[in-house]
Amino acid sequence: MRKTEKSGGITILDFGSQYTRLIARRVRELEVYSEILPWNASPESILDGKPKGLILSGGPRSTIGPDAPRLDRSLIECEIPVLGICYGMQLIARTLGGEVKKGRLGEYGRTRVIFKNENGEKILKGVPASTDVWMSHWDEVSRLPEGASAFGASESGALAAYSVNEGRITALQFHPEVDTTEYGREMLSNFLFDICGCEPNWKLGDWVKRSLESIASAVSKTDRVICGLSGGVDSTVAAVLVSKVAGDRLDCIFVDHGFMRKNEPKQVVEMYKRLDLRVRHVDASERFLSAVSGLANPEEKRKTIGELFVRVFEEEARKRRGAKWLLQGTIYPDVIESGFMGGAVIKSHHNVGGLPGDMGVELLEPIRELFKDEVRRIGALLGIPEEMLKRHPFPGPGLAVRCLGDLRRERLDILREADAIFIEEIKSAGLYDSVWQAFCVLLPVRSVGVAGDARTYGETAVLRAVASRDAMTAESVRLPWDVIDKTAKRICQEVPQVGRVAMDVTGKPPATIEWE
Ligand code: XMP
Repeated sequence: MRKTEKSGGITILDFGSQYTRLIARRVRELEVYSEILPWNASPESILDGKPKGLILSGGPRSTIGPDAPRLDRSLIECEIPVLGICYGMQLIARTLGGEVKKGRLGEYGRTRVIFKNENGEKILKGVPASTDVWMSHWDEVSRLPEGASAFGASESGALAAYSVNEGRITALQFHPEVDTTEYGREMLSNFLFDICGCEPNWKLGDWVKRSLESIASAVSKTDRVICGLSGGVDSTVAAVLVSKVAGDRLDCIFVDHGFMRKNEPKQVVEMYKRLDLRVRHVDASERFLSAVSGLANPEEKRKTIGELFVRVFEEEARKRRGAKWLLQGTIYPDVIESGFMGGAVIKSHHNVGGLPGDMGVELLEPIRELFKDEVRRIGALLGIPEEMLKRHPFPGPGLAVRCLGDLRRERLDILREADAIFIEEIKSAGLYDSVWQAFCVLLPVRSVGVAGDARTYGETAVLRAVASRDAMTAESVRLPWDVIDKTAKRICQEVPQVGRVAMDVTGKPPATIEWE
């Protein structure tokens, strides 16, 4: 029997979707406990936690494919409410005797759905009859199982929602967990509270408590932990969390790769002192710069930096023999974007999976299931200063993935100056905290200009400011023109090597937030 605190929560069965953790996070946002189990967990172990409801996630496979993940029929035949999403929706149909076939075109992205709520579906409380949702599927349910009733279709006519057993089983072709689904939060809330009868009694503080307990049960009273700190929110929160258990048995190493923002290494070291973390600052900037010299391919750059990072870290760690654990501040978007869940590799995040095999240490990743804003809120609960927590996210390989083309110290300095001006202007306009991330990119593109009577041939700086909730998707921020204008003028004046300033207005998708 698992711990009783889990009873009354939601169990999410993971069929491999990149959004499974996002479902868990949405459930947490609604203050309900959730746990994720693999799709092939035994029905006994699933029901042992006494969940109030089951959510079947989406997944990358086809339910009609040869080795498609299956569902034990007993799970949907017991009395527990079930919500099937995408793959989960199709799987319920097949399991109960319906039919799924390959669709003609598939549906991807924002799609309009029309609901016909003739049976008073509880999941539709407060949801208008026509609304935009996020679709991502090829197959579609072509025949409903006996006793099921459809209550929604997309504009193209594909079945989008049905229920069985008066709404105890609800199945949605679209993803209510994705922000684009306008009433997704309402639908999940209706499922949790109106259909499953959950109570909103799970708090982020519970996460901290449980996490400290599980760290304490893994890390014994004599174990030493080493940790690579990057100056960012994630590794800092992970370190402060573990320091509550390991105290001075936690040794932190700050590998300075030389790709940080203006004045950042100094500020970071001071902050660690204030947080009482034992940190050794290793300036390895020369080594990193020579390793990436001449590299232009983004993945090569990322891999080279990631590998060298591990090597430098390992050298330092060897000076502290006896560590049993390697602590990393990996968070959830790092895990999926690095392709660890079986999806495509979008970018190799250098803090994921770089564990040197022969170091003989075990990996400790206490915030692996969290999203950035949750990490920030947990940081605040742990007493980390606000100014640190509110710092915009920064990629592991730092400015190396924002300095396109020749990676020389001079060009990195140009980028640092331009970036500092942009951030200063955003801060003085009072916009820093409302923007998810703002930064400059330096392009290997020169253009002709005129300064005084002289011809110039300067580089191009690009301003990028995005709004996001969790870095999975992002939109370009409409900064006030005065801020853009002043920033552009200042950059050209104060950084004479830059001859032109442009603005990146692309969302994610199709772009990613960073340029490389
Ligand atoms: P992308 O560019 O993939 O970035 O849309 C999503 C978010 O992740 C940050 N990012 C990283 N964070 N290590 C990190 O810890 C990395 O290698 C890395 N690459 C990108 C990026 O700044 C954005 O907030």
